[in-house]
Amino acid sequence: MSQPRTILVTGGAGFIGSHTCVELLSHGHDVVVVDNHQNSVPEALHRVEKVAGRSLTASYVLDVRDRDALSGVFATHPVDAVVHFAGRKAVGESVRMPVEYYDTNVGGTTALLEVMSRHGVHRLVFSSSCSVYGVAERMPLNENDPAAPVNPYARSKWTCEQILADVCAHRPEFTVHALRYFNPVGAHPSGNLGEDPCGVPDNVMPYIAQVAAGLREHVTVFGDDWPTPDRTGVRDYIHVMDVAEGHRIALERPAPTGMHLLNLGSGQGTSVLQLIEAYHRASGRPVPYRIGPRRPGDVPELVADGSAAEAVWNWRPTRDLARMCQDSWRFQLHNPRGYRPQSLSDRAVREPDATAPPQHHRAAFRSNA
Ligand code: UD1
Repeated sequence: MSQPRTILVTGGAGFIGSHTCVELLSHGHDVVVVDNHQNSVPEALHRVEKVAGRSLTASYVLDVRDRDALSGVFATHPVDAVVHFAGRKAVGESVRMPVEYYDTNVGGTTALLEVMSRHGVHRLVFSSSCSVYGVAERMPLNENDPAAPVNPYARSKWTCEQILADVCAHRPEFTVHALRYFNPVGAHPSGNLGEDPCGVPDNVMPYIAQVAAGLREHVTVFGDDWPTPDRTGVRDYIHVMDVAEGHRIALERPAPTGMHLLNLGSGQGTSVLQLIEAYHRASGRPVPYRIGPRRPGDVPELVADGSAAEAVWNWRPTRDLARMCQDSWRFQLHNPRGYRPQSLSDRAVREPDATAPPQHHRAAFRSNA
């Protein structure tokens, strides 16, 4: 199959989606975005265009479960492949709202598959998660280790993977990559694109960034009684631009039809205390912390065996922990209020043209949902 040129990115305004759009645009692909902005803002797409120095072909405010609206997008653009990020991703919220998680994550994926089939599009990169492994018995984790998801978010991703495997088994024209991300962090090195958590950050890296910036008092370390070397939780942090690159490689490298399941991680375990120390070094700011109780649903350690991606693609992540912290800090400094309008004093640290986003198209297929 020749290289896909026009890529539809669902959830393209989100954290990983927006960085992937930049990566695709920068490598000459045409990109169409659909996003319902439930957990993202349109400003992220203006930033994508500014950072990439190219415009998106189009962007639409719609929910992928709205099959008619989604079908209209496929009818308008010669879509060669889809990258599917759109979904809900907060573990704690998934425990409170399991039905919404299945509806959005599983229902969104089946709607997308149906519309892709209708339009003869058979190439998909799916956003999965290391959380499908659950509490694993040994590290690092490879793709043959059993899945044992422990919360509705993780189970919804695992369910999607199984649906995709069934589709590939019975529809031989499909090529699907399900990429299991470990912990994506950091930001685009320009400082213009990053993670824009709404409200109090759930994840540790944006929380640390806000503490370093003086916006929050201290980090609460969730438990110092884990069976790990310094007794705090260990994760495999991977730079978001490496994750974005992984998606581009999945689309560009020739791949046989069928289901391809790959971990995207650095292979390096980092504890919460090590992460705090690395951020302190990168930012030059104090990062005070306090030890608190364990967070329900947490696991002690998750580290990837990334050898399958390396064997298949001859590719591995290259940006180290120091770079992840430096790039996160640059985004935090330039955007203390995330993508919301900056105050006058905040604007002083931004580039002069940052307030003049390029025009982009939207909402021709507005969802009625
Ligand atoms: C979880 C999911 C992951 C999902 C990600 C994004 C699991 C196992 N992982 O990652 O699939 O993509 O959320 O929502 O379900 N920590 C603190 N203090 C804090 C916040 C976190 O100490 O304020 C610790 C946690 O206990 C953990 C580490 O930092 O040890 C990373 O936590 P977090 O950034 O929330 O990511 P995960 O829970 O690993």
